[in-house]
Amino acid sequence: MEQRTIAELRLNHSMLHTPNPSELSAFYKKALGMNVTRHGEKYICTNTERCIVLAEGKPKTLGFAAYACKNAGELEQLRQKISASGGKLEQSPSPVFDESAFSIRDPDGNTFVFGVHTEHRNGTDAQALPGRLQHVAFASDEPEKLLSFYTNTLGFLLADRVEEEGILKASFFNTDSEHHSLAIFTAAEKRLDHHCFEAIEWNAIRDWADYLAQYEIPLQWGPGRHGPGNNLFFMIRDPDGNWLEISAELEIITLDRPIGLWAHEQKTLNLWGQAFLRS
Ligand SMILES: [Fe+2]
Repeated sequence: MEQRTIAELRLNHSMLHTPNPSELSAFYKKALGMNVTRHGEKYICTNTERCIVLAEGKPKTLGFAAYACKNAGELEQLRQKISASGGKLEQSPSPVFDESAFSIRDPDGNTFVFGVHTEHRNGTDAQALPGRLQHVAFASDEPEKLLSFYTNTLGFLLADRVEEEGILKASFFNTDSEHHSLAIFTAAEKRLDHHCFEAIEWNAIRDWADYLAQYEIPLQWGPGRHGPGNNLFFMIRDPDGNWLEISAELEIITLDRPIGLWAHEQKTLNLWGQAFLRS
């Protein structure tokens, strides 16, 4: 049985770069019912369980993904574990976490921030639906390097892998009992793939689709059900083209669950039908 050696972590917030943070924040306010506040040049969009920070820069690029430990003691343990595993720690760029947070870059240059759990301000829209920021996914042309870094240096656990003739095509990592809080898809390039908001149950998927329809924000993929994670989902795009996923019923796993192996085919990524294969 694989033993967890680090604290439990959950994705707490992320920062996206965009050419126009003000304009994009208006979309997050409308589409995701977020409250928008300024922190210098940055826009912080929050609604209780979700937080996206927007900063000026190249569109569709990640500033950082910030994971939270439950308390300062677990964060210190994590810092020591990552240092002992050879990780090069840097200062936290997050305007949300306190000064105890730190960051580290993966082999593709994606920045991970680790800090102590921070509650987010409620949104302004009372009708806003449940949707905790739950996972982030990257595409990469060197996924094995990332897999090694996430498991050996960060201590994340591999939940499932998708293969084609022994070649890694996707991998899903858990940091608590939820099936994945991080995923990698093999692709021709290194890039951000998507962020996901967990809405708990199927009726919320319907309610989200109806809510977004009011603003004529179309579903781009789904509804469907992923194989790995067994979650119901649909995807939309923000005005910059970032994929946003609304999910429900994500699989809950135990630490002794064997790593799942899936074939690289459409039904793995969507048991109900058409899928978006990145490679
Ligand atoms: Fe996802």
